[in-house]
Amino acid sequence: MDRRVPAGPQDGGANGSAGTAAAAFAVDKAPLLGKKSKAGPSGRAAHYTGRMTIYVLVVALVSATGGMLFGFDVGIAMASFQEEYFPEIYTRSIAGQKDSDPYCKYHDTRLQLFSAIMFLSGAVIAVPAGLASRHFGRKISMLASGCCFLLGAGLQAGSHSLVQLIIGRCILGFGVGTAASVVPVYISEVAPYASRGGLAYLFQLAVTAGILAAQLVNYGNQYIPVWGWRLSLGLAAMPACVLCLGGLVLPESPSYLLEQGRWAEGKAVLQMLRGTDEVDAEYADICDAARASARVSAWESWKNLVTRQNLPMTIMATSLAFLQQLTGINAIIFYAPIMFDSFSKSTAALLNAVIIGGVNVAGTLVGMPLVDKVGRRPLLLEGGIQMLLSQIATCAILGAGFNSSSTLSTGTAAAALTMICLFISGFSWSWGPIVWVLGAEVQTLDTRTSGMSAVVFANYISSFIIGQAFLSMLCGMKYFAFLFFASWNLFMTLLVYYLLPETKGVPLEDTAYACLFARHPFWRRVMGKAGKQVLEREAFRAAAFRQAEAVEGGDLRDLAKYYEALGL
Ligand code: BGC
Repeated sequence: MDRRVPAGPQDGGANGSAGTAAAAFAVDKAPLLGKKSKAGPSGRAAHYTGRMTIYVLVVALVSATGGMLFGFDVGIAMASFQEEYFPEIYTRSIAGQKDSDPYCKYHDTRLQLFSAIMFLSGAVIAVPAGLASRHFGRKISMLASGCCFLLGAGLQAGSHSLVQLIIGRCILGFGVGTAASVVPVYISEVAPYASRGGLAYLFQLAVTAGILAAQLVNYGNQYIPVWGWRLSLGLAAMPACVLCLGGLVLPESPSYLLEQGRWAEGKAVLQMLRGTDEVDAEYADICDAARASARVSAWESWKNLVTRQNLPMTIMATSLAFLQQLTGINAIIFYAPIMFDSFSKSTAALLNAVIIGGVNVAGTLVGMPLVDKVGRRPLLLEGGIQMLLSQIATCAILGAGFNSSSTLSTGTAAAALTMICLFISGFSWSWGPIVWVLGAEVQTLDTRTSGMSAVVFANYISSFIIGQAFLSMLCGMKYFAFLFFASWNLFMTLLVYYLLPETKGVPLEDTAYACLFARHPFWRRVMGKAGKQVLEREAFRAAAFRQAEAVEGGDLRDLAKYYEALGL
């Protein structure tokens, strides 16, 4: 069923107000249609006066803690935990069998399932989470995510059986999947367009900080014999508390408010976020997108993902999200402690994991200021090549190192660790964060929440598959597993090179995204007539903007009403 179509931004405006506004603005559509405009930051964007403010930074930081939920829950490799729940692995591990195959020591279906189950439940929840964020708002969805996480962390920390542990992990997965579906969208919607990429990196920064914090906690807790792992699992509740608080006190996203017809509130939030009252051009674009989105039902929001107009964006965003896992990142992060444990002693294993975690955080920080300057494409291309080369090198080092013995010499282990760090840094400033940035920004408001759910679904399903497969793969393929991922990195780099247009610096609620794809040599053919319509509409909007400027004598306060009068 169609949702309520907001009347229009004018105070107390009634349905059908377009006619009144049209009369008030004496709009003449005819002369606008012949004009052409370029995609990308059009004339309108130059009038988006608000810049980065402390307020928006704090808002983005608080909501980004949603990413920490994910990070906190990886890599529980402590001996006490293994002893309690995976005794066979523990026995094998302490026996230190010199003749055992180092690639197969930890090959255990139950351990793989335990690591991967969170992704399966995260994928399952992604669709309802997107619906909730569309209907009830981003804030309440963040709150729900934090609550699921608190419950899941409590169940895990107090667990007395594998069943309880797994139920806790599923509920955690609900929290994590909801956060991933909502937080990047929320950050994109509150961010000023010129810093949107960098602010959206905060989500990934929180993911990496969560992974590092969990690894540090694990490292410290190994000295608390019996219940140390409970503390590790329970501490995961901390970021959840911050997210719950955020869900209560953060402002709702302006796009959501305007889509609900809450014009005055939406404008006030936008002004607060931008630190200025002069938000008319941006407000007009959001109103325009909000009116179009409010006409679309939940079902249509999903169906529209595969219309010719949206298909290119949907294909690129979801396939990059799926392929992100084929970089091999989680295979390495999840199993780094386990891999290194099979190389050397368990303390060294956790220490190695901490080094990897640190590189992951540092790399994300390096990418943050770059993404809005050099753009998404160059980072993805550079990151892809760096990952590819370092995996080939890791494969060669491990191949040579294990050729003569079943344990690695210190020098060889250090060389392998260096290559793995190179791999992690390449991922952390490119494919790690950019998948989330693109997922939240390439769709228009009407398909944004469903598009983001599809991105999370694709990413988590692929994490689940890789999580299930990697230890078996490592055992079967040995160091050639790294070559497997390297070949995927080659494919992904080529995919970006040929098929991904650069999307930096385009305002979120602008139609210019679709224009970028409508002009692309390949996607233009996929979009067909729909692509031409997109370009015409953008040209019309840009021309309408110029005329509004002229009509109002440069005063853009009534721009939103003017667009509405034109039926935009
Ligand atoms: C990925 C995760 C990964 C993390 C590592 C995220 O972007 O989606 O699967 O564990 O980055 O930093």
